[in-house]
Amino acid sequence: MYCKRIKAKNFRNIEQADVAFDDGVNILVGENAQGKTNLLESLFYVSVGKSFRAGHSAEIIRFGESFSELELDYNDGIRDQSIKMQIFRDRQRRVEKNRVRIDKMSDIVGSFRAVLFCPEHLSLIKEGPAMRRNYMDIAISRLYPLYMKTLQRYNYILKQRNALIKNSYNDRSSFDATAELWSLQLAHEAAAISKYRAEFIKRVNGYVARCFSDMTGEREKTSISYSGSAHLEEDGYFDAAETEKKYISLLTSSYEREISAGATLWGIHKDDIDIKLNEKPARLYCSQGQQRSLALSLKIAEGEICRDEFGDYPVLLLDDVLSELDASRRGYLISEMDSKQVIMTCCESVFNKDASIIKVENGRYIR
Ligand SMILES: Nc1ncnc2c1ncn2[C@@H]1O[C@H](COP(=O)(O)OP(=O)(O)OP(=O)(O)O)[C@@H](O)[C@H]1O
Ligand SMILES: [Mg+2]
Repeated sequence: MYCKRIKAKNFRNIEQADVAFDDGVNILVGENAQGKTNLLESLFYVSVGKSFRAGHSAEIIRFGESFSELELDYNDGIRDQSIKMQIFRDRQRRVEKNRVRIDKMSDIVGSFRAVLFCPEHLSLIKEGPAMRRNYMDIAISRLYPLYMKTLQRYNYILKQRNALIKNSYNDRSSFDATAELWSLQLAHEAAAISKYRAEFIKRVNGYVARCFSDMTGEREKTSISYSGSAHLEEDGYFDAAETEKKYISLLTSSYEREISAGATLWGIHKDDIDIKLNEKPARLYCSQGQQRSLALSLKIAEGEICRDEFGDYPVLLLDDVLSELDASRRGYLISEMDSKQVIMTCCESVFNKDASIIKVENGRYIR
């Protein structure tokens, strides 16, 4: 995967820019608040159709403008491709791939494969489970477009089931029969999603363990596992049929509790990833450098799995990645960049290898 250029218009503080990239390491340098992260955000937006820091897409439209436009040219290892996105304040966005209109985002996620690391990802380790579920969902959607569709179906059913639970507080008459229907459907999708997640996390565990061991000269050991409310494994293999049965039994046997809580209490929307460092929960005990190294290893693992599936590495988008790392961890990370395309923000003096420098000044990009 090789990102050739991006043209951006009215994206955050970028009025108009046309930035070409090298196929090796590209470094965005500049003072604070000039638009380094904004450019990475624009590339990520084209990759997955949402921003990593905006709650709502309209936030990325330049102040005072009515729409934003991104046009990306890339090579997917076989041929040149292009994606164009227009984001409006007052209507649905418009997406084109190779000048053909695309209606569903799930048809395009995974076309331009990029893995992002940004300071917000540090909360992957120390904060609540929502970030970790988000990490799995984005990474797995990229690998298997069907996953995203399953997740969308799950979220739809969950919304219906939650609405039913809320209403039943006042009206129990037809509740049980309808709740059972939604429970069966929810359990079915939940088992499918758990299977994808459990298999993905097993692969992540292998790569993170190797990455951490190389990074720290085998001094630090990690173990990462998937933790779901009805996740069942037999001899190390995930059992989807048994998991579905367990979800059905959880969901159909506790209506009273769910009604008093006002929400569905079991399902993949409660899942988590259990991350241990030297056999202790990383969430409670890791240092800042360890937290950063772990978050980074999760991202490196995502890139490796993507390479296993598609035969080439995704583009690495790295925001402020080298700070807080000691010399050996930094050296390891820089060596990991060989034979990959990297677009990163960093100060020049930290990076002592060949790289293409792009100076960033007030939303302008100068090579
Ligand atoms: N919708 C928007 N319209 C115009 N400007 C915006 C918009 N959203 C953010 N900005 C501006 O973009 C600038 C921040 O850019 P960015 O986050 O890319 O900075 P940076 O170069 O990464 O800085 P740092 O080194 O501090 O991380 C801020 O000045 C902010 O006000
Ligand atoms: Mg920044």
